[in-house]
Amino acid sequence: MKRLGLAIACFVLVCSAACTSLATQRKPYATRRDAEAAGRIQAASPVSPTAEPSAVPTTATSAIAARLQITHGPYLQAPLETGMTIVWLTNKNCVSKVEYGTSTGAELTAFSAQHGLIEANTTLHRVRISGLVPGTKYYYRVVSTEILDFGPYKVIFGETVKSEYFSFTTLNGKKESFSFVVLNDRHEKVAPFQLALNSIRWQGIDLVFLNGDMLSHVKNEQQMLKGVVEPCVGSFAKTIPFLYIRGNHDARGYSARMLINYFPTESQRYYYSFNHGRVHFIVLDSGEDKEDSSKEYSGLVDFDRYREEETKWLKKDVQRNDCKKAMFRVAFVHIPPGTKGNGHGAQYVHENWDPLFRVGKVDLLICAHTHRYARKPPQEGKQSYPTVIGDTNTVIRMDVCDGLMNATVTKDDGTVADRFTVEKKRRFWNRLFPKSHTRP
Ligand SMILES: [Fe+2]
Repeated sequence: MKRLGLAIACFVLVCSAACTSLATQRKPYATRRDAEAAGRIQAASPVSPTAEPSAVPTTATSAIAARLQITHGPYLQAPLETGMTIVWLTNKNCVSKVEYGTSTGAELTAFSAQHGLIEANTTLHRVRISGLVPGTKYYYRVVSTEILDFGPYKVIFGETVKSEYFSFTTLNGKKESFSFVVLNDRHEKVAPFQLALNSIRWQGIDLVFLNGDMLSHVKNEQQMLKGVVEPCVGSFAKTIPFLYIRGNHDARGYSARMLINYFPTESQRYYYSFNHGRVHFIVLDSGEDKEDSSKEYSGLVDFDRYREEETKWLKKDVQRNDCKKAMFRVAFVHIPPGTKGNGHGAQYVHENWDPLFRVGKVDLLICAHTHRYARKPPQEGKQSYPTVIGDTNTVIRMDVCDGLMNATVTKDDGTVADRFTVEKKRRFWNRLFPKSHTRP
């Protein structure tokens, strides 16, 4: 009897193992076409933030261990009048898409493809939605399907996870009034960064600028997620886009080369311009602060040539019609312009970009880097525009309306540290009655 019992137990174990093997090999769609077909069915199904298991778990423990999750995001990047990039991360390698539309019916689908290949088998997902209508509210949700096995001729898919629906509004160059905020130099200090984000009244804010050095150097993915992504997603970034402007510290460390994957721009460059609310925004990357030959960089930087490339671009940008016709021109540079002795990067900005800001009639330059709040009015014969430099614990809020940019600078706890106004330049009247463009 004992032998018979042992034999039955062995038989049950073998059957169980076989069933498990079959279950894990079960696939929701064996080809991309099948996956797309399934995606269309899912798009019509009710909103569900939970995963849809396709393989039968053997035990509760393995089901939890195997659960596909969206671990970070989604968050909005690279906003334009006609486009938006959605970024999110999963705990397993997936192929992903965004379902979006002007209602939660999600009638449209976007996915990421390069060189004819759909992005797949990754935990970091970036999908650019283009062809959007300016100033329009869109609803979106992200969808990721696990890839169990990526064979050369057969890919085996696993479960699918969907986010809730969120919404964003595309930029609009003609919008009459809007607000934006600027934070900088947080250097991975999550608690005060979170405190500052909590102090912001988000109503009316369309853009958030992180003006560099949000990290002290770029070590790995976890550090970027903990120091920047998590606080932003928790506060605003599912519905309001943020722009990560590179500071000198963001260019340090091995993973600095991956920074743009997590904070992508439309051009995939760190310097660009765009329009919103009758403002032409110019974003520049001042690079490292010291000479390329400095021993700290171990011969692995090439910022002199890079800044020259930016200068060529800036010369063209300040001549563009949208720059000339904008009510305001606002430029962002992490390192403020400095004269000799203030550092190599600062000197380059002073000698090369400052004259172009004058040509482009920049109305306000927003900088960071010094860890000391400062506001400099225009200087007759030197600098034709005001400069504001954010501190490590300031939030600069700009409310743009009726030909004015009203700035309120607060500390992390929300107490007001400074206020100033930038007026629309009235060039004829300014010549007759010269006065400062800023007033306290
Ligand atoms: Fe800096």
